[in-house]
Amino acid sequence: MSAVLALQVDGLSVTHAAADGARTVVSDVSFSLPRGRILGIAGESGCGKTQLLLALLGLSPAGAQVGGSALLSGQQLVGADRRVLRRLRGNRIAMVFQDPMTALIPYLTIGTQLAEVLQVHRGLSKSQALLHSQQMLEAVGIDAPARRLRQHPHELSGGMRQRVLLAMALLCEPDVLLADEPTTALDVTVQAQILDLLLDLRERLGMAVVLVTHDMGVLAQVADDVAVMHAGVLVEQGPVQQLFDAPQSTATQSLLAAARQLSPTAQGLV
Ligand SMILES: Nc1ncnc2c1ncn2[C@@H]1O[C@H](COP(=O)(O)OP(=O)(O)OP(=O)(O)O)[C@@H](O)[C@H]1O
Ligand SMILES: [Mg+2]
Repeated sequence: MSAVLALQVDGLSVTHAAADGARTVVSDVSFSLPRGRILGIAGESGCGKTQLLLALLGLSPAGAQVGGSALLSGQQLVGADRRVLRRLRGNRIAMVFQDPMTALIPYLTIGTQLAEVLQVHRGLSKSQALLHSQQMLEAVGIDAPARRLRQHPHELSGGMRQRVLLAMALLCEPDVLLADEPTTALDVTVQAQILDLLLDLRERLGMAVVLVTHDMGVLAQVADDVAVMHAGVLVEQGPVQQLFDAPQSTATQSLLAAARQLSPTAQGLV
């Protein structure tokens, strides 16, 4: 393959210890993501999408066993030293978490939380970092960004918090963005703005994106490739149109059937 790989995952697995025996929630997952590509990951609730992303960041729950390999531009993430992972997280690989309230610290202002990313990873002063953070809030479409910096997470709507998380993830212009349902909580207009922003960043920075969503319409709009998970296993992957036109697995077929039932005219789905 001639394209530069931003992320190469081989045989990744995550096993949780449980009272009644070990449970494998991600099983032998492999995919490669070239720079500037958007890979969509779809699959029913509980199939392991979030666990897969967390394993890539070295943030699997305590006691989880992670096996296999995940290379970030050649750098091994699985089993990497915690200091190495801390340096890479938020900087070269960043994540937009599914639940914005648990990913933000309630008692710190938005400004403090955003600025810290730039102070730690880029060595900016607090005032420089705040200025840059304000610009990023503006870029993700947040109104009155200067005021937002002084507010706490509970003072923002759910959609705004989601955008704050996206701004935080984008601050250091990571090579790889892991986005876990980044637009699910947003209304259609804001969702479209965020998707446009992702496409723009991919274009300008060559950022690669792993986009987890249950929304096949979103995948039709922005994904280059789609991977479908079922019960921890990646059952099918390929270019988005090919997957939509000729789904091979029953998991993909039922996701598409469900999406068509909800919105028969959804773009790219009919
Ligand atoms: N901390 C944990 N300890 C043990 N099992 C867990 C833990 N977190 C998640 N799981 C299990 O791992 C499996 C995969 O969960 P995961 O959160 O990855 O699903 P998902 O595909 O992201 O679902 P959704 O679409 O609802 O977000 C589930 O069976 C879940 O119960
Ligand atoms: Mg999830």
